[in-house]
Amino acid sequence: MEHKVLDAAGFDAWQAKYDADVAACEEAGDYPFAGYTELHQQVFDIVHAREGVSVLDLGCGTGKLTARILEAGHPVTAVDFSGQMLQAAAHNAPGATFVQGELAQVPDLLAGQTFDCIIAVYALHHLPDAEKYALLTALREHLNPEGVIVLGDVSFPDRDGLEAVREAYEEDWDDSEFYLVREELEQALPQFDVDCIPISFCADVLILSPAE
Ligand SMILES: C[S@@+](CC[C@H](N)C(=O)[O-])C[C@H]1O[C@@H](n2cnc3c(N)ncnc32)[C@H](O)[C@@H]1O
Repeated sequence: MEHKVLDAAGFDAWQAKYDADVAACEEAGDYPFAGYTELHQQVFDIVHAREGVSVLDLGCGTGKLTARILEAGHPVTAVDFSGQMLQAAAHNAPGATFVQGELAQVPDLLAGQTFDCIIAVYALHHLPDAEKYALLTALREHLNPEGVIVLGDVSFPDRDGLEAVREAYEEDWDDSEFYLVREELEQALPQFDVDCIPISFCADVLILSPAE
């Protein structure tokens, strides 16, 4: 199905309905948000396993997870290009630091800043693979020692796995998005070790740790 790439204005327009739309999709157990709550929980658990770690939340959206992480005692910097999403996030997570900007520009926008956990939840699939890998490569320099990048997103072990779900959801498939394919990500980013927590038939949490 033809889909328009969502720019900041598209997400501005979606903001008021975003949480309800995601919840309905999750409740139906459908692509793309099957397992959304469990995925948030797993990302939260990885962050919260260590006390007071600093967090960078890329594509924070309405800030539900941002708020949870902040309330658990972790300072959060959150980035999004949508002013409406950021407004909702600031309402939900007062006390976080918010930065409005393009994900690809984050290494420049946050030059010199480092974090213990960099999370990107249902966000990186908006970047074409080459941009995604370039961003992840650059983000390595923004990790503190022992730091990790945690990606929770629509994700498949390999291209065949993605194609199988595309076929099953032909009508709804969003061909303007670029989902994670773990095998390809591992090949493109040998500077990271990648661990995977499977969440649903269409989502995983991937933990990227700088390789020794
Ligand atoms: C699908 S929502 C995910 C929101 C939230 N992380 C969650 O778990 O529900 C994607 C978010 O990323 C933001 N986003 C998408 N593409 C972006 C880009 N190129 N630069 C900055 N933000 C972007 C959108 O505005 C939106 O808030």
